[in-house]
Amino acid sequence: MDITIKTTEPKDFDQVIEVISLAFKTIPYSNHDEDEIVARLAAAGDLAVDLVAMAGDVVVGFIAASPVTIGGERCDWYGLGPVAVLPEYQRQGIGQQLIEKSLKDLIMMHAEGCVVVGEPAYYQRFGFKTSAMIYYPSTPDGYFLSLVFKQNNKRGVVRYHDAFYQ
Ligand SMILES: CC(C)(COP(=O)(O)OP(=O)(O)OC[C@H]1O[C@@H](n2cnc3c(N)ncnc32)[C@H](O)[C@@H]1OP(=O)(O)O)[C@@H](O)C(=O)NCCC(=O)NCCS
Repeated sequence: MDITIKTTEPKDFDQVIEVISLAFKTIPYSNHDEDEIVARLAAAGDLAVDLVAMAGDVVVGFIAASPVTIGGERCDWYGLGPVAVLPEYQRQGIGQQLIEKSLKDLIMMHAEGCVVVGEPAYYQRFGFKTSAMIYYPSTPDGYFLSLVFKQNNKRGVVRYHDAFYQ
């Protein structure tokens, strides 16, 4: 199956919301508000990365990244996610393609680093590691990971965009 990764266009947006909602529907640790988070990020114009995976004209996957603060300060760090692939398209490498392209785009934007909350076994494949320097409250041990693109001197608590906390 040919999958194309591209920047989300306005005409894709309804499908994106549907893909996110379906992908997270059966995830026990989800608050099932990931679609709303993405809608709020889009409305705020703060989707630093906003990619869809297309099978022909059909959106089958989506990934976002948005700015985070560390220790209360704005910096060139980003939070990756949510990432979502339609259940019937999972385990075919689409998530991997979306994540790899997002990381390339963030590097092109001169990002200093990127954080993610998720399965360590999955994100470690892309170079994400746990860090003693930056942390995220209320996350199970090992599930908050970071990837440094440039020399890192940031320390403190990470806060995602306000869209994540409404
Ligand atoms: C996570 C997700 C985006 C991965 O997409 P995908 O296209 O299936 O991923 P890939 O095909 O690139 O990789 C699949 C591999 O990752 C592993 N993997 C996928 N999700 C995983 C998870 N939650 N925990 C551990 N491993 C996982 C699979 O075991 C698989 O490995 P294998 O091929 O060796 O068996 C997709 O499963 C999804 O939409 N899940 C629901 C939403 C979600 O949990 N998003 C992540 C949190 S933001």
